[in-house]
Amino acid sequence: MQITLRFVAADAPEIQGEHELRYQVLRKPLGYGRDAVAFDFDDDSYHLLAFSADEVVGCVLFHPESPLTGRLYQMAVDPRLQSAGLGRRLVAELETRLQRDGFREVTLHAREVAAGFYGRLGYATVGAPFEEVGVPHRHMAKTLRSS
Ligand SMILES: CC(C)(COP(=O)(O)OP(=O)(O)OC[C@H]1O[C@@H](n2cnc3c(N)ncnc32)[C@H](O)[C@@H]1OP(=O)(O)O)[C@@H](O)C(=O)NCCC(=O)NCCS
Repeated sequence: MQITLRFVAADAPEIQGEHELRYQVLRKPLGYGRDAVAFDFDDDSYHLLAFSADEVVGCVLFHPESPLTGRLYQMAVDPRLQSAGLGRRLVAELETRLQRDGFREVTLHAREVAAGFYGRLGYATVGAPFEEVGVPHRHMAKTLRSS
C-alpha cells in the first residue's frame, strides 16, 4: 500500500479526514466526543497528513510558539497501519520542514504509553509526569540541527 505525506492548509477539505482520524485514534478511546477534537490553535498550525489514496491514515500537527520553538501535537496513525514506520516518517518529514523554516526546538506532551515512541526519535523527557485528558503524560523536547 502506498502512503503519501502532504502538508495541507488548516482550511483545506482534507482537514475533515484529519478530524475523523483524530477522533477515532485520540479522542473516542478516552470517551470524548467529536466536539473535543479541534484545538483553538489548529488554524495557526502546520498540518502534515498521510494518505492512502484519498483516506487520511496519519497526522501530526505543530503549533509555532515563537520563531524558534513550538509544540508537536495530535500525532495519530490509523490502527491498521501502526508499528510499520509511518509515525516515524511523519515526525521526520515534519522536522525537516521545521528545520527549513528556522525552528530549533520541538516540544510535546506525550502520553506515557507513547513516550517510548518519541524516545526512539530522539526526544527526551523533561520534568515530572502530569495528567491531561485523564491520562498520564510527560513533557518531551528535541533540539533540531541547523539546516
Ligand atoms: C504512537 C504512534 C503515533 C506511533 O506510530 P507508529 O507508526 O505506530 O510507530 P512507528 O512504527 O513509526 O515506530 C517507530 C519506533 O517507535 C517504536 N514505538 C512505536 N510505538 C511505541 C510505543 N507506544 N512505545 C514504545 N515504542 C514505540 C517502534 O517500535 C519503532 O521502534 P524502532 O526504532 O525499533 O523501529 C501510533 O502508534 C499511534 O497513533 N498510537 C495511538 C495514538 C497515540 O498514542 N498518539 C500519541 C499521542 S501523544
